[in-house]
Amino acid sequence: MKCKICKATAVVALRSHNAAFCPDCYLKFFARQVEKGIEGQKLFTRDERILVALSGGKDSLALMLELSRQGYDVTGLHIDLGIPGSSPVARGVVERFCARHGLKLMVRELAAEGLAIPLVKERLNRPVCSACGKIKRHFFNKVALDEGFDALATGHNLDDEVARLFSNTLRWDTAYLSDQGPRLDGEDGFARKVKPLWRLTEFETANYAFLMGIEHHYAPCPYSPGASFSTLKALLQRLEAAMPGRKLDFYQGFLARARPVFARREAEEGVELAPCTSCGYPTSSGDMCGVCRIREALKDSK
Ligand code: AMP
Ligand code: FES
Ligand code: ZN
Repeated sequence: MKCKICKATAVVALRSHNAAFCPDCYLKFFARQVEKGIEGQKLFTRDERILVALSGGKDSLALMLELSRQGYDVTGLHIDLGIPGSSPVARGVVERFCARHGLKLMVRELAAEGLAIPLVKERLNRPVCSACGKIKRHFFNKVALDEGFDALATGHNLDDEVARLFSNTLRWDTAYLSDQGPRLDGEDGFARKVKPLWRLTEFETANYAFLMGIEHHYAPCPYSPGASFSTLKALLQRLEAAMPGRKLDFYQGFLARARPVFARREAEEGVELAPCTSCGYPTSSGDMCGVCRIREALKDSK
């Protein structure tokens, strides 16, 4: 198998792009896809400061490295969840990665906030994953706003996005369908959220991480061993194998033709946001935000 660009020996074949690449040409292909993802959806510019949420997984580390190689002003943010066994490993991976590449890093510890995930799990009478997601998103937003960043970037890839889109579609969740996408504009109390890897699959990102020698954290969270959307992802993988390129087409078609329709509908219905009565960050609950409610529940159950 020969590289489509330079005819050297290829190491990666991509059916969706009808191409195979040698290592150098693959890295250029990857960079070009990230660039297209950023420019095509106007995610951010080189003058802006970007906070990149680093979990220790290959996607967010690959994103951070590629953005810095492209000259963007990036700072990493790791949320230490306080889970014995798994959190110290993830944090160590992120810290070594940033030190090795000379990248700025901020770490926030949930334990210092009284919100260590094992404690939340023990005290709350419901699945911890949704509470954990809520807490992480709260701190992504808070740190981005408090520290004056222009946007908060996560490592979500095309497979994550298409699986989520498919899941929202299966439920016809029009509220989620109205604002799912690689760019969610900032508004009062909310930082802009961006997903620059939206054009790249899990496989493509894993190849990049491998070729760039990125050490990453494999161990799944002990509380949610199955990857999210694993059934839908497997289904979509079969569709992609039969119809290469369909995943990206489906997602791009949604962004161009379906999301605006849902967004108009949602704007007509209008969800009221007001500051949380405890922390001041916006919420649609009309009272306390989800994270402050978790804090209260922890106090009550002491
Ligand atoms: P996940 O929901 O675990 O697939 O993560 C999606 C994205 O959220 C990752 O690519 C990261 O950008 C971000 N993320 C998840 N967990 C953390 C964490 N503990 N600290 C910082 N960022 C995270
Ligand atoms: Fe949050 Fe597992 S419960 S990562
Ligand atoms: Zn609050």
